[in-house]
Order: sequence, then structure tokens, then C-alpha cells
Amino acid sequence: MGFFDIPARRVLKNQIMHYFTYKGRELCAEDVPITELAREYGTPLYIYSQKTLVRHINAYKSAFEGYPHLICYALKANTNGAILKLLAGEGAGGDIVSGGELYRALRAGIPAKKIVYAGVGKTEEEINFALRKKILMFNVESADELARIDEVAGQLGAKAPIALRVNPDINPKSHPYISTGMREHKFGIPVEQALLLYRQASRMKNVNVIGIHQHIGSQLTEITPFADSLKKTLSVIDRLRGNGIGLKYLDVGGGLGIPYREEDNPPEPSELAGKLLPLLGESGRGLTIIIEPGRSIAGNAGVLVTKCLYTKAGADREFVIVDAGMNDLIRPSLYGSYHRILPAVNNRREIKKADVVGPICESGDFLAKEREMPAVKKGEYLVVMSAGAYGFSMASTYNSRPRPAEVLVDGKSHRLIRKRETYPDLVKGEF
Ligand code: LLP
Repeated sequence: MGFFDIPARRVLKNQIMHYFTYKGRELCAEDVPITELAREYGTPLYIYSQKTLVRHINAYKSAFEGYPHLICYALKANTNGAILKLLAGEGAGGDIVSGGELYRALRAGIPAKKIVYAGVGKTEEEINFALRKKILMFNVESADELARIDEVAGQLGAKAPIALRVNPDINPKSHPYISTGMREHKFGIPVEQALLLYRQASRMKNVNVIGIHQHIGSQLTEITPFADSLKKTLSVIDRLRGNGIGLKYLDVGGGLGIPYREEDNPPEPSELAGKLLPLLGESGRGLTIIIEPGRSIAGNAGVLVTKCLYTKAGADREFVIVDAGMNDLIRPSLYGSYHRILPAVNNRREIKKADVVGPICESGDFLAKEREMPAVKKGEYLVVMSAGAYGFSMASTYNSRPRPAEVLVDGKSHRLIRKRETYPDLVKGEF
């Protein structure tokens, strides 16, 4: 086994694992050597594994099987139409945060009745769009927003199905930028205020109170904060019931982490369900549970392939200069995130420490810092792992760099699911 091989044992054990493994020396996406794909489609290139996506959605399905539930994939993780279509075909609904995501979800065949809509800044146009399409529910984040929804629904002669997003004031122990359920965060409504607002909402003419929502953060590696938050949310449900306000939907949000490092061992969907469902009690309080996973569906189902353009010896370190930059994958620059970087061809060689950097004119443009890795050669392909979530969806054209192509692999076959952007694409719409 080579230095960078993924132990087979782990592939079998972990439900949130993937089908990017070495076969001989070649790192393959399912059955296709990544080198072959890089040559055919060019780099930088996002590659996704269909089997992995299906495996992950199925891990959620079987975890919540036997309990009324709806899996609303969080589109923001990866909005490629082919991926959405695939997940829709597996029965997934969608968690959206904008009119644009609603457009994409519907276009890919996700039924409106399986769509929930969160976000603190929904505009009048977006609310109107979602009402006309008859989504399952709005996850409302403020009193002002609720009033706006009531007003827009009134104009349309519609009744808006709503849940309030509670802010449980729980520390999810994740990166500060992706924690969302603490009192200082802009998300949700503090519990006591939510109770009052539910009473007001139940008297609004154009609003139908049907659910409650929480989402405390992303890349959670422990279930305890999840469970603590759920306990608070359940107490809101029970107090509301005491006031004659019965809810049908309990949306527990997304946030389950994935292994970015080989030693990471975040909980799996089955463990999540195993801890959360018992909290609902025998009868489940008559609730349908909604889960909004994003990263744990798409994260380890995608990689970013990049080519080494040059290497250079700096004054105190080596630089591996690659053709993918922070515009293609911003996570290392923005959050200091760790992504494994593997050679597409695993030859025995010396291990060296290097910074893997992109072509963007900023020192914050790096994919890895002081990384121990096999000495990289000019022209060789490197594979940035776990890049399927918040990779392409956060990509930009900064420095006027066209965004990468995206390819979906299924067994031995593969197809382009998004063309590489061109220079004319960069100026589209400009005068
Ligand atoms: N539901 C809501 C309301 C959310 O805001 C999010 C993510 C999710 C579900 C899905 O969470 P997941 O299962 O993917 O953890 N760009 C960051 C992550 C931002 C997450 C934002 N909200 C990153 O690259 O780590």
C-alpha cells in the first residue's frame, strides 16, 4: 500500500466515504483514472462520483427509514443541475436560500412540495416566486420577514406555509464562520421571542403555521450540540402545543461533518438518527422530520484536479504552483480548511514540505500550507480531495479566470455536466 492509499477497511466502514481510490498507481474516480479525465477535459476540473452521491443519500434514507421524514438536500453545497437531477431521482427534496436556488431546484425536477426555504434576507420578489410555486414551507428568520410574507401572500390570495427558525443559542464547536445557532449570530429567532411570534403568526390571515426549524452550523463533528439544540426546539413545540398551536414539521437542519483528514471520524447519518429520533418519544409527537444535509451528501463525492505548472524554491520553503486558485476552491483561503492533496499517479518518491499555491495575485491564494507531500513534478496532476461541497458553488471568476468544467463519473462512463467557461462567458452581460 502506498503512502497515500486509503485503507480499504475505512472505505467499507464509513457511510460518508467515497469512490476515489488508487487502483495500482492511478487514482481513479470510480473506474476511471483521473489522469485520463484531466487529459480529456483539461484542468482545473471538478470530478464527481455518482455512486458516492447515491450512497450518501441512501445513508440518510436508511437512517430515518420507518419514521416520517423528508431529506431536503442543501443546494448551496453543490448546485450543478445534473447532480440535483440525480438526487431528485433518489427522492430528495431541497433546502434553498434564494430565488436562484429555487429556480435551479425546480429546473432539476425537485418537486416544490419538497422544498424548504431558509435565509435571513428573502426579498419580496423571492417570496412571491416561492409562493407562486407552492413550496413546502418558508423557514422564517425574523418578525419583519414574517410580516412581509403575510403581506405578499395576501396580495396573491395565497396562504403561506411557515416554520420559524429558532436560534437555540448552542455552540456547535465548528469554525466561527459556519456556526449559526449562537445568540450572536444573525440566524433564527431567540426562543422566547419565537414563542410570541408563533402566537402572532397563528392569528395572521395569510399564513399557515406548520413547522419549526433549527440549523446550528456546518461541519459538525459531534452529535451532542445537535441533540442539545433539538431538546430546546422540542420544548418550544411542547409549549406551543399547550397553547393550541400544533406543528407538523420539525426541520432539524443540516450540518453533519465529513472526514477531510484521514483520521477524522465524524458521526454518520445512522448515528445522528439514532441519537435524535429517541428524543422525539415513542409517538414521535406526530411530527414529520426534515433533514437538510449538504456537505455530507456532496463533499466527499467530488474532487478538484489541478496541474502543477511550476515548482520553485522560495527563501524558506518550496512552492508548488498549480493551475487552480482560490477562485476555484476558496475554502483553504477563507476558513483555513484542510483538503488532502494526492498525486493522480502514486509513484514512490521523496516526501517534501511545500505550499501548494494558485495563480491568483494574493498571498491568501493557497490550497495547502507547509504540506508534507511527495515531491511534485512540473506537469503532474494533483487531486484536491473532498471538494464536492462548497467547491464549485463558491467559485468565482476573480482575476478573470473562467470557472472550471465539471464531470460526472458513473462506473466506467463519464460525461461533462458543465462546460469550462470561456473568455466570452466572462464578459457576458457587460456593455
Ligand atoms: N440548512 C441551512 C439552513 C444551512 O444554512 C446550511 C448550510 C445547510 C442546511 C447545510 O449544511 P451542511 O450539511 O452542508 O453542513 N461554505 C461553508 C459552509 C457554509 C454552510 C452554510 N449553511 C464551507 O465551505 O464550509
